[in-house]
Amino acid sequence: MITLGIETSCDETAVSILDYKGEVAKPVILSELISSQIKLHQEYGGVVPELAAREHLKSLPLLFNEALKEAKLNISDVENIAVTAGPGLKGCLLMGYHFAEGISVANKIPITKVHHIEGHVFAIALEEQNFNEPFIALVVSGGHTEIILVESFGNYKVLARTIDDAAGEAFDKSANLLGIPYPGGAELSKLASKVNASDFTLPKVMRGQEGFSFSGLKTAISLLIKKNKDFDKKVDLKRELAFTIENAIVDNLVYKLEQALAKSSVKKIVVCGGVAANSKLRNAVSKLKVQSFFPKPLYCTDNASMIAYVGARRRAKNLDSSLKEVTPRLSLEDL
Ligand code: KG4
Ligand code: ZN
Repeated sequence: MITLGIETSCDETAVSILDYKGEVAKPVILSELISSQIKLHQEYGGVVPELAAREHLKSLPLLFNEALKEAKLNISDVENIAVTAGPGLKGCLLMGYHFAEGISVANKIPITKVHHIEGHVFAIALEEQNFNEPFIALVVSGGHTEIILVESFGNYKVLARTIDDAAGEAFDKSANLLGIPYPGGAELSKLASKVNASDFTLPKVMRGQEGFSFSGLKTAISLLIKKNKDFDKKVDLKRELAFTIENAIVDNLVYKLEQALAKSSVKKIVVCGGVAANSKLRNAVSKLKVQSFFPKPLYCTDNASMIAYVGARRRAKNLDSSLKEVTPRLSLEDL
């Protein structure tokens, strides 16, 4: 099933065309394009929703035409349009949905609404043949941090979620305190990789409670920076603090993942979402005594191929969801 995927939930405009070959086969990706808005938002230190929405509107027709050209297809070849309907920024989701709707009405192609996190959870299926449920997904992105039991396609149970910041947000806010521009997670990790040890210590973040919590981290980091005179000018200290921050976030994620694994008979893990590109996290999870899977970095961050895959699988199964055209918030559990 030739499926056009459209993703505009945050600050990446992405369009993919994928040929879905069924549940057990690897889909064939005919074209995939991403236009990142990072530069546009960098000067504001975070995503400005209105600017993001306007940029999606500009980029969508260009990417759409280019994607068809790259796939060597006409719009009449497309059998299904998969579009992210939520969660995400309302104005951004609206741009993607209305663009999809225009193509749908003009060409009589059905639309399948896709949950962004379901896309991340199944991004691994873009690379792995015969990837079967059940598995446990650790979703770590800029907006979400959750451990999800994937019982089967369409059946999800949230085992843990963050009570405040998401893991990516924790990376980005920490990076900001170190003077690294938004989004900062990958850059902080690069800085941390320059050292093998650190004299800084951070409290083990909220281990006793249910779910993840990262908001205390910022205060602890600010205090450490204040204690060190001329911190800004000391490159080594910055590297060491980055090392300690990365360890603290990874340690917290892995600790909760181990807790979830201990309570479950499922011993297969997928790590997904932007922070899944982090190599320290990948190493730490690989050491757990379970099967672990990580999408390649391109499929960790927001992309439209994962949306096309889930949209095609849902359409092939005739699986409906409770997503409306634009659904800024909806837990995967309530899908
Ligand atoms: O999934 P994603 O592309 O967008 C959302 O849906 O949020 O995730 C983006 C997040 C950002 O917070 C970014 O800093 C973080 O993923 N990130 C990383 C790394 N690469 C991206 N964080 C830590 N280490 C990395 N290598
Ligand atoms: Zn995402």
